[in-house]
Amino acid sequence: MTRFAGRVVVVTGAAVGIGKAAARAFAREGATVYLVDVDDETGPPTAAAIDGATFLRCDLTVEAEVAAAVDAIDRGSGRIDVLVNNAGGFPEALGLAETTLDTWRDIVDSNLTSVFLMSRAALPLLRRSDAARIVNLGSLAGLTAGWQTAPPYVAAKAGVHGLTRAMAAELAEEGITVNALAPSAVLTERIQRLRDRDQLATTAAGIPLGRYQTPEEVAEWILFLASPEAGFMTGETVSVNGGRFMA
Ligand SMILES: NC(=O)c1ccc[n+]([C@@H]2O[C@H](COP(=O)([O-])OP(=O)(O)OC[C@H]3O[C@@H](n4cnc5c(N)ncnc54)[C@H](O)[C@@H]3O)[C@@H](O)[C@H]2O)c1
Repeated sequence: MTRFAGRVVVVTGAAVGIGKAAARAFAREGATVYLVDVDDETGPPTAAAIDGATFLRCDLTVEAEVAAAVDAIDRGSGRIDVLVNNAGGFPEALGLAETTLDTWRDIVDSNLTSVFLMSRAALPLLRRSDAARIVNLGSLAGLTAGWQTAPPYVAAKAGVHGLTRAMAAELAEEGITVNALAPSAVLTERIQRLRDRDQLATTAAGIPLGRYQTPEEVAEWILFLASPEAGFMTGETVSVNGGRFMA
């Protein structure tokens, strides 16, 4: 299939997990894909296994590194059609009392400030596209109290949903759409490493559909939000959570 043939797609946090699945899916659909990630051990082999993909090492919380990554994309492709702000996550479930200021800042910076820095830097290249799309990774945690996560993560993801609306409102007159996707429990390599069998089963049991979402399923939602079919949708957060939100 070639739904994204000739399109230039940037996926942040694409060395592993949801970002990697999204990068692979866009490439399968014919896109030229840039994988932007701070992990320069896993990122290069991930990109090397994807047709037409390029790895760019970048800490998305550092303004100068984001500018350098966007410069490299400009030199390589001259525009961006789709920006997927996916980098983020949190190291472990935490309560308020155990959250240090450093942990707060790290989580807010990697989940929220990264979206601001990358979107702002990419804007001149997005403006050169005839149908630019931004897709931000929010979370069910940003719509709820954040089951099994951490206060700074909940706050940062709620911030991502708000920033999505603010950017969408500002960029609508230029035809650039901005939407967020809010997954719930996704069975990435990281989650499989962090949780034992019993913990995985307990989490799955708390989801009405009785299982984790796969990274590949999340990737298909990201592709939909980046597709021509989603062209009349902007400023929305799409919640895909196996029924967890209603439960
Ligand atoms: N896995 C889930 O259950 C789940 C649920 C809801 C939302 N999400 C969100 O989806 C996104 C992807 O999640 P995942 O589970 O695939 O994450 P992951 O931890 O498996 O991968 C995240 C990637 O982002 C990169 N990254 C983190 N901080 C970075 C920075 N400052 N600069 C550059 N790269 C950075 C990491 O190196 C890593 O490759 C995240 O925003 C996460 O919050 C995940």
